[in-house]
Parts: sequence; C-alpha cells; structure tokens
Amino acid sequence: MADQNRRFILAERPAGSVEESTMRLERGPVPEPGPGQALAQVRFLSIDPAIRVWLDDLPSDLPPIAIGEVIRGLGVAEIVRSDCDGYEPGDLTLGLTGWQDYVLVDKGEHSMLRTLAPGLAPETALGVLGVNGMTAYFGMLDVGRVTEGDVVVVSGAAGATGSIAGQIARVKGAAKVIGVAGGPEKCTWLVEELGFTAAIDYKADDVSSRLAELAPAGIDLFFDNVGGEILDACLANLSERARVVLCGAISVYNSRATAGGPANYMMLIFRNARMEGFEITNYFDRFEAAQAELGAWLESGAIDSAEQIVDGLERAPGALNLLFTGGNTGKLVVRT
Ligand SMILES: NC(=O)c1ccc[n+]([C@@H]2O[C@H](COP(=O)([O-])OP(=O)(O)OC[C@H]3O[C@@H](n4cnc5c(N)ncnc54)[C@H](OP(=O)(O)O)[C@@H]3O)[C@@H](O)[C@H]2O)c1
Repeated sequence: MADQNRRFILAERPAGSVEESTMRLERGPVPEPGPGQALAQVRFLSIDPAIRVWLDDLPSDLPPIAIGEVIRGLGVAEIVRSDCDGYEPGDLTLGLTGWQDYVLVDKGEHSMLRTLAPGLAPETALGVLGVNGMTAYFGMLDVGRVTEGDVVVVSGAAGATGSIAGQIARVKGAAKVIGVAGGPEKCTWLVEELGFTAAIDYKADDVSSRLAELAPAGIDLFFDNVGGEILDACLANLSERARVVLCGAISVYNSRATAGGPANYMMLIFRNARMEGFEITNYFDRFEAAQAELGAWLESGAIDSAEQIVDGLERAPGALNLLFTGGNTGKLVVRT
C-alpha cells in the first residue's frame, strides 16, 4: 500500500480540450476507514467522454464537477482494509471511485462500490460487460429496436460503445451494418475482425455520398455516438420510418456552449422518422439479464471486444484527450 493518496482535482474549466491547467494532481494522506467503513485502492479507471461533459458548467446527466472536487469517474478498486460486513480485503469492486488512489466506502443499500463477480477482468467489467456494453445493448435493442433486415449505421464505430453496438446489430440479423470511424486501420478492423459490412473513414471520405452508395434505399437505424456533421450526413440518408438513436455527441463535447443543431433535422419530418436520446442509468435494473446475454455472445465468439490500457494515474488527463483525437480503439482504461 502506498503512503499517500494522489488525486486529480478540477482546477479550472476547460475552454476546449483538457489542458495541463485543467486538472491538478494533489497528494495527501491515505484516508483512515472509520467504524463500519472499508478502504479501497483504485486499480483501474474507466476513461469516458462523459467526464469531459461534467467539466463544463452546463446541464447534463449529473451535476458539473465543482472546482476543487476530485474528477468524477468510474473505476475498479480493490478492498485493502475493511471494518465492514460484505467487503473483504482482496475483493474487487466497481463504482464511481473518482480519479484518485484511495476511496472510503460504506456497505449498504446505497453503497458506492459493488463487488465484481470472481474472475471478471476489470477492463471487461468497465467495458463490454459494463457501461459501454450496456449502452450498446439497450441503445440498439430498446431505443433503436433493431430488426432483421435493417440497414444500420453506427458512428464512433471503433470505440467502446460503437464497436459493440454494431456487432449486436449484426447478431440480430441486420442486412447491413455500416461503421463510421476515423482512419483506415479502424475501418479495416471493423470489417475484417468485427464483421461490419462496410466502414466509412470520415477523415478521408465524404460521409453523405458514401452512405448514398452503400445504402441506396436509405438507413433504417442510425446509432449515433458523434453528432455534428456525421449526424447531418445520416439524416440526409434516412429511409422511411427510420430510427435515430442519440447515444452521444462527442464531436461537440469540447464546444458545447457554441455548438449548433443538426441542419438536416427536417428529414425526420419528410421520412416520418424518429430521433430519440437515452441515458443508460435508466436501465440499471435490467443490467444483469443484458450482461448474461452479452457474456454468452462473447463466450461463443459471436461478438468480440477490444481494450486499450494506459499505465499510470498521472496519465489519466492525457488518456481522456485520446478519446477526442481518436487515439483509442475499443475500451480505454487507465491502470493506476
Ligand atoms: N447515452 C449514454 O448513456 C451513454 C453511455 C456511454 C457512452 N455514451 C456516449 O457514447 C459515445 C461513445 O463513448 P465511448 O465511451 O464508447 O467512447 P469511444 O467511442 O471509445 O471513444 C470516442 C471515439 O469517438 C471518436 N471521435 C472523437 N471525436 C470525434 C469527432 N469529432 N468526429 C467523429 N468521431 C469522433 C473517436 O474515434 P475516431 O477515431 O473514429 O474519430 C474516439 O475513439 C460518446 O458520445 C459517449 O458520450 C453515452
């Protein structure tokens, strides 16, 4: 056990990308667990675009992170001391640990950390069988209502959520699954390894005209992680009664205050289409069943997942920026 607790706190709100001045690494004593408490050591951090959203003083799913507060984020932490029924030293737990080495936890109905199933790898628990997999699953099945024969497009397709969303569509019998991603390596990976029908490199190709070629009868279901120009290109190519699932809009997270809306939204009217957002937190009570189904697909090889690990808590701010430059393929985690 280390003799100090390092923690990243929010020093100032970023104007665009996270800069060196945005967060400050502070060092303090390791917190002492009181009666009925346990001390957990953070081992892995989930690097999620939502963290960038919480850095702004704008409304979102959770309140903004306050200046001086520890950076909020999901992580996997190991119980290292316990005076608390239900937590044993060595247990791996998952929850909102924040970007720090140590966190105190109480056990109870509203406990912040839940114990992981034995043998479950932290990066899997945070990724394909965690928030990203759940988001892909419920976004594709419940919100998007993917149906056999659909022409499906997924943006951010080589990321943690998009890569799983596209594969779920394939498993469910979509006629075509078209991924939109940055760069030829990611596009090749989507088609050759994950079984997407085709992939569009939005950094090199004109997305709208490629979609018109690949989906001449239109897109039945668009699962959007990106927003901005890619959303507009998909709106321009919708089929009759198409569904547009708004999962995320990462292209505008660095400039939310000034971002414009989709120029082509009127296509929703002309195509009798539906566009709907969702927050995965509304589906907690159905996670277990979804994890069982996704887990079975993983085990049978019907779907695959990729994880990318960055080592060192001090590299977490840089890792967050990788999401915005496309420096990750699949689930990005920091191993502290
Ligand atoms: N609704 C929910 O409850 C929920 C839950 C989890 C996540 N989300 C959302 O899901 C989306 C994906 O999250 P994730 O955790 O799976 O991250 P991720 O997809 O693993 O990483 C983000 C990816 O976005 C792409 N990207 C970044 N800036 C872009 C831009 N300007 N234009 C096009 N692509 C861009 C990058 O890939 P390229 O190399 O392809 O550019 C990057 O790899 C995010 O929008 C996130 O907010 C929503």
